[in-house]
Amino acid sequence: MCGIFAYLNYLIPKKREEILELLVNGLKRLEYRGYDSAGVAVDSAASKDISIIKKTGKVALLEEEIKSRSNELDVSGTVETHCGIAHTRWATHGIPNEVNSHPQRSDPRNGFVVVHNGIITNYKAVQTFLEKKGHVFESETDTEIIAKLIYHFHEQHPNYSFRELVENVVQQLEGAFALCFKSKYFPGECVATRRGSPLLVGIKTATRLATDHIPILYGKEDPPPSPAAEADSNPEHRPHGRGEFPTLPRTGSTSEFEPLEDKQVEYFFASDASAVIEHTNRVIYFEDDDVAAVKNGSLSIHRVRRGGDDPHKREITTLKMELQQIMKGNYDFFMQKEIFEQPESVINTMRGRMNFENGTVTLGGIKEYIPEIKRCRRLMLIGCGTSYHSAVATRQLLEELTELPVMVELASDFLDRTTPVFRDDVCFFISQSGETADTLMALRYCKLRGALIIGITNTVGSSICRESHCGVHINAGPEIGVASTKAYTSQFISLVMFALVMSEDRLSLRQRRQEIITGLKNLQHQIGEVLKLDNKVKLLAEDLYKKKSLLIMGRGFNFATCLEGALKVKELTYMHSEGIMAGELKHGPLALVDETMPVLMIVMRDPVYNKCMNALQQVTARSGKPILICEEGDQETMSYCQKSLEVPKTVDCLQGILTVIPMQLLSFHIAVLKGCNVDCPRNLAKSVTVE
Ligand code: AGP
Repeated sequence: MCGIFAYLNYLIPKKREEILELLVNGLKRLEYRGYDSAGVAVDSAASKDISIIKKTGKVALLEEEIKSRSNELDVSGTVETHCGIAHTRWATHGIPNEVNSHPQRSDPRNGFVVVHNGIITNYKAVQTFLEKKGHVFESETDTEIIAKLIYHFHEQHPNYSFRELVENVVQQLEGAFALCFKSKYFPGECVATRRGSPLLVGIKTATRLATDHIPILYGKEDPPPSPAAEADSNPEHRPHGRGEFPTLPRTGSTSEFEPLEDKQVEYFFASDASAVIEHTNRVIYFEDDDVAAVKNGSLSIHRVRRGGDDPHKREITTLKMELQQIMKGNYDFFMQKEIFEQPESVINTMRGRMNFENGTVTLGGIKEYIPEIKRCRRLMLIGCGTSYHSAVATRQLLEELTELPVMVELASDFLDRTTPVFRDDVCFFISQSGETADTLMALRYCKLRGALIIGITNTVGSSICRESHCGVHINAGPEIGVASTKAYTSQFISLVMFALVMSEDRLSLRQRRQEIITGLKNLQHQIGEVLKLDNKVKLLAEDLYKKKSLLIMGRGFNFATCLEGALKVKELTYMHSEGIMAGELKHGPLALVDETMPVLMIVMRDPVYNKCMNALQQVTARSGKPILICEEGDQETMSYCQKSLEVPKTVDCLQGILTVIPMQLLSFHIAVLKGCNVDCPRNLAKSVTVE
């Protein structure tokens, strides 16, 4: 998904070269989100204009382009105060090309430039209005209307501050956005805002900040109704039909700004912390409709409307994340590193929560809500992709230990069905990024209907974190590879710990709980054992990488591994793969099986062992030659297959954690053998912030 990075240095002399390097480096940190083109805007060396450099393809190509224009950009020149904005684009409106890349501009002289994450849903109406005013559009993007609209307001109200202009612009926008603006009319200033798309600012000063928060400044009156909002309900009222957009009353002068006390200061605006952490760990996460402006080195956060329970300040958060945590270390790929981190990441998920000595589990983030959760009508687990699979993986245990009905839902389908939700429902929103648009929309849908909202996320400060009533942070550490690996096992464990908390006072479940707790205790070591299969898995990948398809079969506690394994194979290797519930074989999929079809089967010695063996025999009877994932030392089962991967035995409900790791390794090795982009598979993004 798109990425925003902006850098502002105030009274800190920097060579243009350094600034450009910093911007490009910021974009590199965001590459993992997935993108198809990139661009930057900086002050032009020769004039007061702005230079925009854009390139289709990788950030490395943009870097080369910048180098090739180093004379024109006067890279050795120094600037004391400067604002540069940068972007990686993932095409939504218009093909990936340079014109459609960001920054988008207001006019041929680059009066205003903007970078945008998200989608503007009413851009057509605004575009028509602006075209009637004489603006000529050059791109196919929805973003260009933003650059042109701010220019339009500036022409109408030349005395408005940069921040006031942006406030007027966002009143007219519908959809989801994070925006960062730069203007030649407001040199050394930057204005940023968001609605439905994440954005934060990192603050770096020579001395420690004198404050731990930034107060919110509110508008004096409510804004006039948005004509863009009315346009939907009444075509007569489209903005271009009314002649002009009403503007907000002026609200702020510089004297209203609460300056940070340090004089020299640097600001790093970004769509996520990975681009900022190497510069500073002091960040502010913006809320929807915050308009943040830097002027004369001071940051102010303004809101047009006074929100219901909105706090009056934004806290400066100290990030605990280390840069090395987001670097590749000794691995060739982030995904590979993340697979091999699982012995530690599962421990981090349990740290401070599992007490193996006395068999207790404490989830601090939801502790106070447990009595309410125990009274609920049902549990709903909602997510997308891998996060959804973690819900599938733990559903059976949740049903067993809570004795509550458990619904497991794909967020998109859940919303399509306008599923009935009640006040006494407890809804879990599972998301690594905490920003997935479908999951976030489903969260808001359930919150509106009065359900208790529990976030299960890996990203502190993410939208899902902030909008949940309570939650569990899975503590897996930054996951950079687009394919989710360690987040899955940590989500899995978080949900298992929740089931344990819910059943702590159930005498009849004491033994079952104890075997699960013992299983969790042994996981770190057992995952280490599974990872030793790496070379063996690589050999299997060599047999498989030229095949067109891979069927992955299993049932019971291991069905989720089939779905998750097939998703990994699809997204990383572009090969067809399907996770098949073994009980469904006779109802269709068996027709696919012959001596040429690659099949992988998961057969563990759990309550569905006999049924799995039945499926295995059905496959071999059709000349299928399945690869087996089975329990260590299970010679009898292995005798049915030529190739097998043995994983250590754990308690049935945790076995999926150990069976999914060979699937992660297999998809990884096939992708490498096929020369696929392991960390950024084609057409995909790490954080899917559009529906
Ligand atoms: C996983 O490998 C995928 N890249 C994808 O399915 C992902 O899990 C999904 O988009 C949900 O993301 P989230 O966990 O950040 O909400």
